[in-house]
Amino acid sequence: MRVEENFRARIAPLIEEATRERARFVDQELNNEWHSFIPADYDRVIETLLKVREPGLLFLEWGSATGVIAIMADFLGFNSFGIEVDARLVKIARELAAKFGSSARFAVGSYLPANYEWISSTGDRRLGAVEHGPPGYAELGHELEDFDIVYGYPWSGEEPIMRDVMSRRGGRNARLLLNGGNQGMQIITNNVS
Ligand SMILES: C[S@@+](CC[C@H](N)C(=O)[O-])C[C@H]1O[C@@H](n2cnc3c(N)ncnc32)[C@H](O)[C@@H]1O
Repeated sequence: MRVEENFRARIAPLIEEATRERARFVDQELNNEWHSFIPADYDRVIETLLKVREPGLLFLEWGSATGVIAIMADFLGFNSFGIEVDARLVKIARELAAKFGSSARFAVGSYLPANYEWISSTGDRRLGAVEHGPPGYAELGHELEDFDIVYGYPWSGEEPIMRDVMSRRGGRNARLLLNGGNQGMQIITNNVS
C-alpha cells in the first residue's frame, strides 16, 4: 500500500503539468488543426497497470502523446517506451520524463511496424485516425515482438487495426491493453505460435 501511495504522490504533479502542456499545445501549436490526442482517464489506466505490473517487463505505449502513461509505467518498474507520430508531442514527453526523473524512452514514428498492411474483413484498407509515418521501432532499439505489454487508446474504427497489428506482429503471450474509454479496459493475450 505504501508503494502505491508513493506512486500516486509522484504522479500527481506529473499529471498536472502534462495537462497544462496539453492545453498549451492546443492553444499555441494547433491553430484549430484537428488532432487525435485525447488523454485517457489516468486512474483507469493505473488500475490496469497495477494488475499487470511485473518489474522488468517491457512496456510500450502506442500513440504516447505527452508520455504520461509510459512515464507512469516506468515509475511502476516496467522497462517503458512510447511511440508517437507527432514530434511536437514527443518533445513534450521527453521533457516531462527528464523533469520528473523517468527513464521512459520515446520515439517519433508510427506504431505500425515496417511492411504491415491493414486490410479489414471487408477489404477496406483505410486507416482512419491512424496517421502515417515511418515505423518508430528502430529508434527504440526494439521490435514490436519484444514487448510484453502494449497499451493503446484507439479511436473508433482503430481497435480492429490495433488487434490485428498485435496478433500478427506482437510477441507470443504478450498482452494488449485496449482502452475502450467508458467501456473499460480489455486485456487481450496473444497466443501466436
Ligand atoms: C487517443 S490519443 C492517446 C493518448 C495516450 N496514449 C492516452 O491514452 O492518454 C492517440 C495518439 O496517437 C497518436 N497517433 C496517431 N497515429 C499514430 C501512429 N500511426 N503511430 C503513433 N502514434 C499515433 C496521436 O498523435 C495521439 O497522440
